[in-house]
Parts: sequence; structure tokens; C-alpha cells
Amino acid sequence: VHYNNNLERDIRTFGRIKSRKLSINKQSLLQDFLPNFEIGNFNQILPLLNKGTFEKIIIEIGSGFGHFIFKNAINNPQNFFIACEPHINGVVNILAMMQKYSFDNNKNINNLVIYKGDAREIIKLSSDNFFDEIYVLFPDPWPKTKQQKRRIVNQENLNLLAQKSKIGASLTIATDHDSYKTAIVSCILQNINWFWLANNCTDWQIFPQNWVETKYQKKALQEGRNSVIFQLINQKL
Ligand SMILES: C[S@@+](CC[C@H](N)C(=O)[O-])C[C@H]1O[C@@H](n2cnc3c(N)ncnc32)[C@H](O)[C@@H]1O
Repeated sequence: VHYNNNLERDIRTFGRIKSRKLSINKQSLLQDFLPNFEIGNFNQILPLLNKGTFEKIIIEIGSGFGHFIFKNAINNPQNFFIACEPHINGVVNILAMMQKYSFDNNKNINNLVIYKGDAREIIKLSSDNFFDEIYVLFPDPWPKTKQQKRRIVNQENLNLLAQKSKIGASLTIATDHDSYKTAIVSCILQNINWFWLANNCTDWQIFPQNWVETKYQKKALQEGRNSVIFQLINQKL
């Protein structure tokens, strides 16, 4: 399977990107604070990487309210993080956490950037073998049969991610949605590029130590749904 190189023809995998009118504070985060961290395309990442010597390049597809990538970026200054999220309220929330951190600690964050759009636009224009870690956490489940073509986890995207990440790179996918869970299992078992690290049927229920729970993960727990995690390694066959 080859991935679709034509950006315009990509089928949309996310829902709404705007909600109610933003408060003045939130508008100001977008207008005044976001430009310090926003990347508009892949090429804008490169000069930022040259400034520091980062060990790993990590991208999150659909960072939502941003807790996972924000905390990981703060805890791992040696790594460079790219948050991709088209939903404006999500972007505003990451920015609010970043601004508070900088204020409280009197320190700029230099290892986290934000792309306010479809992650595939960044990934497709990256060079091959670029990413070390990729996260797709609680992707939109698109439960109706008619909508399932919108699911981000599919063969085409798995192949794209395999090409753009290094051999030995990790891809972590989590979901609490039963039918998506089944679809992901069949997708990864069919994909020769990604090796699934699970040894037995309880492995996927165990999240790594120091895992930062996401907003949707907490919501699932509150509503009594179990979450599972798929940890895959790029073996590029
Ligand atoms: C159900 S939410 C989960 C958010 C977060 N990861 C969490 O666990 O709380 C899925 C998010 O993925 C985003 N998304 C979907 N397709 C995307 C894409 N192609 N690129 C970037 N973000 C995407 C959506 O806008 C949405 O915010």
C-alpha cells in the first residue's frame, strides 16, 4: 500500500475545529503567545532543531488539550516535541499550560512547537527516517460505518508513519473504543512495517510507567471504559 502524497485529497480525520467564541484571554493567547511556538509547515522545524542538540524528535497526532505532550516536553528537555491539533480550544489549552509554566518557572520552553492543523501535512513533507516517537492517543473513533474511512489508523497512514520514522522508532496508539480497538488490531497485524510488542493479552492494558493520562483517557475511565495501548516498533520491511 502506498500513502497518498496529495494533501488536498486526504480525507478529513477530525471533527470540529472551532467552538464558541473565545474569551479575550484565550484570543490573546492565540494572537500573542502562539506565534512563539507555532510552525506553519515542516521546514520551519529545521532551524529550531539546529539551535539545540535534541536526542529525539517526537510528534503527537491529535494532542487535544495537550496534557500528554506538555508534561512530556517539560520532563524531557533533551527531546523535541511537535504537537499537532486542529481544534482551536485544544491549542489554547496547551498554550495556557505553557504560559503558566514559563511564568511560574521564569523559563522559556524551547522544545515544544505546535502545528494547528492536520498532522499529515507536517509528516508528509518531513524527510524519511525523521521521527523517533509517534503518538496517536484516543483518536476520534468515527463509530458509524459510513464514517470509518475517517479513522486515522489505517494501512495508508501506518505506511506513511513507517517511512517517515526511523528503524526502531516507536508508534504508540491508545483507544477506549471497542470497535476501533478491533480495527486497530487487524490493521497492525496486517502491516509488516510495524512490529507489535505485546506478548500476551494483558500487555495492552498496561500503560508504561510515568504515563501522563490524557483528557479522553480520564473521561473513559470515569465512564467505566477500559483503555488499551498499542506499542509498535518500526521494523521497515
Ligand atoms: C478524541 S480527541 C483525543 C485528544 C487527546 N489525544 C486525548 O487523548 O485527550 C482526538 C483529537 O485528534 C485530533 N485529530 C484528528 N485527526 C487529526 C489529524 N489528522 N491531525 C491532527 N489532529 C487530529 C482531533 O481534532 C481531536 O482533538
